[in-house]
Amino acid sequence: MSYKFIQMSDPQLGFYASRHPETEGIDFEIKNLSKAIEITNKISPDFVITTGDLMQDRLASNHVDIIKKMYSDLNCKYYFAPGNADLTNNPEFDDIERYKKRFGLDHQSFYHMNSQFIILNSCVLQDWSKVSGEDSKQIKFLEYQLQNSKKNKSLHKFIFMHHPLFGTNPEEEDGHMVLPKVQRKLILNLLDLYKVSAVFTGHWHANNILNYKNTQLITSGPITFSLGEDPPGIRLIEVDGDKFTHEYIEL
Ligand SMILES: [Fe+2]
Repeated sequence: MSYKFIQMSDPQLGFYASRHPETEGIDFEIKNLSKAIEITNKISPDFVITTGDLMQDRLASNHVDIIKKMYSDLNCKYYFAPGNADLTNNPEFDDIERYKKRFGLDHQSFYHMNSQFIILNSCVLQDWSKVSGEDSKQIKFLEYQLQNSKKNKSLHKFIFMHHPLFGTNPEEEDGHMVLPKVQRKLILNLLDLYKVSAVFTGHWHANNILNYKNTQLITSGPITFSLGEDPPGIRLIEVDGDKFTHEYIEL
């Protein structure tokens, strides 16, 4: 049983101009996202999951229309996870509702070819101070879905969210770049308990790949301006039975 899918991350319309004051607008991201969509359609994956930060300015409603229009050119299904630029660094319930109206569910799960795909809202795991209970809702949702996948004998469980769990060390300190330890520990325990195949994240605008016990933690570079060594790109994941491989494709 083989299939393939694409992870995109951080199209973040307007990010380039925010870091280059001599420019304005979203031309940089439009060019890269168009190329990402063109490459993806040539690969013809089963679906695409984008791990957050769709736009730099969450209040720019015309950017919502542009994102929706461009993604509708994909020849396959596509799913989004919310990022901090979409919801803010300390989201409120209104931010979550606005996101859901624009882009659909902020967390969801689906099965494909005997694998389970779980998309989380990591923004409320990063800061839940204004959305009390939303953090534990995400953890309960994850645990419930993983229990289901065990019952269903899923070959793979893949998790997608915006924020990486950690950069190099599971004990590293809290910060803007990674999920806080209190939430990180809960998720790491579940990864181990349910033998999750991989967690795909973004947010760093750079590639970073490491392992936690039996789980690969894969942070992928952005569609917008890269802050890492690799240029902007997308990630192709190919699953063949109980094995999977992945490669970063530069735009
Ligand atoms: Fe981000």
